[in-house]
Amino acid sequence: MDHFQYRNGILHAESVPLAQIAAQAGTPFYCYSTATLQRHYRVLADALKGTQHRICYAIKANSNLAVIRTLAALGAGADIVSEGELRRAIAAGIKPENIVFSGVGKSRAEMAYALSVGVGQFNIESDAELVALDDVARGWGVVAPIAIRINPDIDAHSHDKISTGRKHDKFGILWPAARATYRAAAAMAGIRVVGVAIHIGSQITESSPFDQAFKFIAEVVETLRADKHDIRRLDLGGGLGVPYLGDEKTLSPADYARIVLRETASLNCELTFEPGRMLVANAGILVTRVLYEKDAGGVRTVIVDAAMNDLMRPALYEARHAIVPVREDKSGGPKIADVVGPVCESGDRFLKDWPLPPLAPGDLLAIRTAGAYGSAMSSTYNMRPLLPEVMVRGADFAIVRPRQTYESLLSGEGLPPWLA
Ligand code: LLP
Repeated sequence: MDHFQYRNGILHAESVPLAQIAAQAGTPFYCYSTATLQRHYRVLADALKGTQHRICYAIKANSNLAVIRTLAALGAGADIVSEGELRRAIAAGIKPENIVFSGVGKSRAEMAYALSVGVGQFNIESDAELVALDDVARGWGVVAPIAIRINPDIDAHSHDKISTGRKHDKFGILWPAARATYRAAAAMAGIRVVGVAIHIGSQITESSPFDQAFKFIAEVVETLRADKHDIRRLDLGGGLGVPYLGDEKTLSPADYARIVLRETASLNCELTFEPGRMLVANAGILVTRVLYEKDAGGVRTVIVDAAMNDLMRPALYEARHAIVPVREDKSGGPKIADVVGPVCESGDRFLKDWPLPPLAPGDLLAIRTAGAYGSAMSSTYNMRPLLPEVMVRGADFAIVRPRQTYESLLSGEGLPPWLA
């Protein structure tokens, strides 16, 4: 459930009509709902009641400061994958000890910065990375708390590009090879082993991949304890899928929590979760304006002012996000259309064969479920400025990131002496 609903035929973000925001921010823009963020966090936290856990929001999904701060205020820590994300998490008020540093390629400079601020856990993904972290930590005279990410060779049944737990995916260390990595880690002066981590993919909508993965990792914990490692933490990653069109079958947080409890309750581990999409996807929309409509060889084609650079999920993953008119129109009945952006690629299409009412230039449309991996993955391709981001709370709204200016788009770039 989200807080983007029609009131008297006009789509609102909480209590604010979207046209009012469009008048101030211009289009296109991203709009986030505080109440939806809070609701999703609480639904997950409630489902996990009865476990000793922390929720480390995967800020790659949406690294807007106001979004992170809203979740931090509810008690969220952060899962980060770069120094930039770490700096953002701290700027949003998250304590370093509640931050997990994930990712398959942390540089030594990033390790050093993370150690200097006291990040709570490094998730290690290779033997070479472990050696580097030990070296950096000893150089600084500190000890790095680590979990090792295990690759369980399990298929998450998600899109190929976001499935991460199969043996040929680049992530984690395979089992049982990781047993030797733990042995090596235990002997390193710059390393303290605290846990085990797993993350098998994103947008997972069935229970069976989680069933398999959590059963598997519980056995790993027991084996490592038998090997005399002090495993106190179990990081179960993120991955819970969300509905994009409204009617798909997904796994509820309660179903997910039941699997977690069933497989891990007897371990007496502190659990870490790294949800991204589940918290923020339906808490955000992308509002765009109709520029033109044309008939392209018999296909009704609606051209809008947002494009693949603003929301690349459809072009990159064949993702389908529901698109709805901001002003409800029940008069003429919907007609099928393709919704496309201005970028010079045929891949710049948000939806194909999608029902939309009659539209006129200037009408507003909302692309739903755009809060996760929307703005965060956007670019300035075709020299299009980054979009404004708006946070709504009740009847209030604020432009929390202004539209990028053309000056800043062009600034910082220089010519070599021979061309100047
Ligand atoms: N933890 C780790 C180690 C991850 O790699 C990810 C996501 C998460 C947690 C959060 O997963 P979530 O709960 O959001 O599923 N850009 C793609 C998704 C990429 C996911 C990358 N890793 C998309 O738009 O579908």
